[in-house]
Amino acid sequence: MKILVIGSGGREHALVWKLAQSPHTAQLWCAPGNAGIAQERLARKDRAVDCVNLGAEDLPGLLAFAQDKKIDLTVVGPDNPLALGIVDLFQQHGLKIWGVNRKAAQFESSKIFSQRFMGKYGIPTAAAGTFSDAVAAKQFCATLGGKCVVKADGLALGKGVLICQNQAEAEAAVDEIMVSRAFGTAGASVVIQEFLAGIEVSLHALCDGKVAKIFPTSQDHKRALDGDRGLNTGGMGTYSPTPFLNETQLADVAEKILKAFMRGCREEKIDYRGLLYPGVMLTKDGPKVMEFNARFGDPETQVYLMRLENDLLELLAASVCGSLGSLALKWKPEASVCVVMASGGYPGNYPKGKIITGLDAANKLPGTKVFHAGTALKDGHIVTNGGRVLGVTALGGDLRAAQAAAYAAAECIQFEGAHFRRDIAAKAL
Ligand code: AMP
Ligand code: GLY
Repeated sequence: MKILVIGSGGREHALVWKLAQSPHTAQLWCAPGNAGIAQERLARKDRAVDCVNLGAEDLPGLLAFAQDKKIDLTVVGPDNPLALGIVDLFQQHGLKIWGVNRKAAQFESSKIFSQRFMGKYGIPTAAAGTFSDAVAAKQFCATLGGKCVVKADGLALGKGVLICQNQAEAEAAVDEIMVSRAFGTAGASVVIQEFLAGIEVSLHALCDGKVAKIFPTSQDHKRALDGDRGLNTGGMGTYSPTPFLNETQLADVAEKILKAFMRGCREEKIDYRGLLYPGVMLTKDGPKVMEFNARFGDPETQVYLMRLENDLLELLAASVCGSLGSLALKWKPEASVCVVMASGGYPGNYPKGKIITGLDAANKLPGTKVFHAGTALKDGHIVTNGGRVLGVTALGGDLRAAQAAAYAAAECIQFEGAHFRRDIAAKAL
């Protein structure tokens, strides 16, 4: 099969790396890809993966490319093209594409849509209200004693969520989002949730419109600095599995969330084929969904795909065709840890073009794979080209071994200004 992967981050490198291992993959392109993706080769034919200079949001360009190359399956990594309706567009032209359609992408592109859906179908979530009027929003914050989370309705590059400790902070947050429009039109309306205390986990389920297959648990580290201090980021590291839900508890949580989710989709005529990624807080009153994402997590994908035993192409094809029910997900018993190496200054402003050394030495370590997130090739050197630069990922017999292996690999790699958290997976140990 001829495959096209859309996106350019660590998630997409992991998807490409795993799809390249499938015996069904005859040719593989990535748009736009990155320097690490361009180094991948297909296991079957020892053929290179080709990066194509098309942006993930260039829907007409991507469609024309897929038609020209007669792509058999396109795999979408990021949220934006899904929200823009790339799946609907490809389907209208008779092309097979993996990812959620525009209607299903609303679970991520509109927090109000998700909150109302959770309320209607009894999915455990935070006490919440949805508002398009700032005065009413502030009154609702007051009923929560000001300890709340104010969220812009629309996509805001993961930044439109403000955690507030008191009423003054809550009112400032409502003003920032709804009045000053710090996140543009994404902040025309808001969801306000009670603040949930607990342990946060990432859940992933692969869906085919009828069934949802839950993955093991993983946990992201969203803050920039050790001990969950510093600014919010796209994610500084992950590990899987977590010790916070055993298999029975995970099955129970999956049942509570996914059964209601699939029922709601049936009633609302949402054909959910793709990945569902609920962000969940394990509170003292049980698990509560804070938000839904409609795609693979980044850097969750890196730890998951290191552990996945199945042929990913077979799973994604089954998700598109509605035949997932007959497949079982299989995971390596080993644990996996991903440490993100970021540019100096990230998540604020950062320079690009810093030469990266030590990648080969890191990749030679056993059970280790360095996924590229923001890299480019310049004058024969691999250089930094984004805030999150690399996802240094390793398998180990247990979490402690995987953690040690990931950090040993990260220590091999240098670039000016590089920083990474030293405590990925520490919460679990
Ligand atoms: P979201 O994009 O909605 O997942 O929010 C981003 C981050 O904010 C989450 O990963 C949580 O760490 C935090 N967060 C969101 N909602 C809540 C909540 N209701 N209570 C506590 N923390 C939250
Ligand atoms: N791991 C965070 C995200 O993918 O949104």
